[in-house]
Amino acid sequence: MKIYNEQYKIPDGYSTITLILRSFRYFRRNTVNAIRLNMEKFGDAYSVIFPGKKLVIITQDLAFIQYVLRDNHTNYCKSEFTTGKVGRMFGKGLLFSNGNYWLQQRRLIQPGFHAKRLQGLYSIMVETIEKTIADWPTGEGIDVYPLIYQLAFKIILRSLFDIGLSPETMQEMSFLFNKLQDFVVKDVNRPLRKLTYFISRQDKINLRRRERMREIVRNIIAERRNDAGEHNDLLDMLLGARYEDTGASMSEEQIIDEVLVLLLAGHETTANTLSWLLSQVSGKPDVLARLKEISESIPAHDSIRNDYINAVINESMRLRPAAFMTDRVAIMDDRYGPWVYPKGAVVLPFFYGLHRHKDHWQDAEAFLPERFIDEAGKLRKMPAFFPFGAGPRLCIGNNFAMAEMCLFVHAFFRAFTIAATGQTPVMLPLITLRPDKVVLQVQRKG
Ligand code: HEM
Repeated sequence: MKIYNEQYKIPDGYSTITLILRSFRYFRRNTVNAIRLNMEKFGDAYSVIFPGKKLVIITQDLAFIQYVLRDNHTNYCKSEFTTGKVGRMFGKGLLFSNGNYWLQQRRLIQPGFHAKRLQGLYSIMVETIEKTIADWPTGEGIDVYPLIYQLAFKIILRSLFDIGLSPETMQEMSFLFNKLQDFVVKDVNRPLRKLTYFISRQDKINLRRRERMREIVRNIIAERRNDAGEHNDLLDMLLGARYEDTGASMSEEQIIDEVLVLLLAGHETTANTLSWLLSQVSGKPDVLARLKEISESIPAHDSIRNDYINAVINESMRLRPAAFMTDRVAIMDDRYGPWVYPKGAVVLPFFYGLHRHKDHWQDAEAFLPERFIDEAGKLRKMPAFFPFGAGPRLCIGNNFAMAEMCLFVHAFFRAFTIAATGQTPVMLPLITLRPDKVVLQVQRKG
């Protein structure tokens, strides 16, 4: 246990700039493995002190994570890193806001994401999936990641705007989104690059892209306001939502912020999970056979409640959680267990480590979907499993995401057979945990 200032007790870890610099290169290349090594060395929580006495505590301790995200959540907010760097490009929607503003927006938008309200979107999802995968290439070495990524983007676009966006608009949005995401990832992972932005005008170019993106969404909203027809999509939900106290609706800029957040949070996470899933099951004949049998014997909509399909998705998210960690900042001094830390301390719950912790998982490194099935054959909840976070900031799109992923698995295994190629995808822990490539043998069924 380390004494930070006299009144604080923080976990052991790195306290000198030398150690940080030494680990910096390695860290950037593979954050996940670097953190795991540090956990082995220091235990389930360790600290890093950055210049200016900025304290960061990284933890895979179940009770500590529950304390920060759930039990004492009122003392924690999202860090400037999320709300500032990422929010600067994608607005101040749910994911990037804090305090009363966040709470007011969450209460407003939450009802639109209840499982019942989402049912109207399932047919849109099925149609988009089936139409898209009908054109997918097959062969000995297909990288499925870009295919699934584009599909996930299409699904969230169509769920937001159930109108035929022109292919040009869809393409432009996809282009702008990719560019903005790339820029944010570089900004986050390579802070020293900032010095070059001025010369290369990258900052200005991306701010212009951000404005163009907002303009496209503004035009879609204007079109919708002139359209008397009913649309069962997320945009209608956002336009129709009313604040409880005033009965007012959101301003146009607020709606644009929320649309951008849903677009951002709602595609890369599912694309990553589904790509990891195909990679994980590709070498498991028993899992493949079961998925094939189930997919061929039930209608698409039943897959959402199918326990085995859900268990496979859960096991995939356990080993490769798209949100591999998150961040919180202590608003006031706080203590948990032996630790006492000051306000301003950043706590990073490390879900990746928790999901493989030997205290909570037997044979933790193995891909075993059955661990999510109980004796009665039903899906079981696991206490150390947080793919969608925990507490009041739990992923608002979790039902949406699970439905989309079940429908995809169902459609995919009806249409294709796959086999492993021996190429294991490399983890790219950027803002989400992305695979670099997922190369598989893919054959269309006769
Ligand atoms: C496999 C898919 C997904 C995963 C693993 C995932 C994971 C997460 C996690 C861990 C959080 C909480 C972050 C934190 O506590 O700091 C979160 C928040 C959020 N997610 Fe997801 N997500 C997924 C899909 C989606 C989808 C499809 C949508 C929208 C359609 C969505 C919208 C959001 C939003 C708006 C938030 C912010 C909620 C708030 O702060 O109130 N997510 N997600």
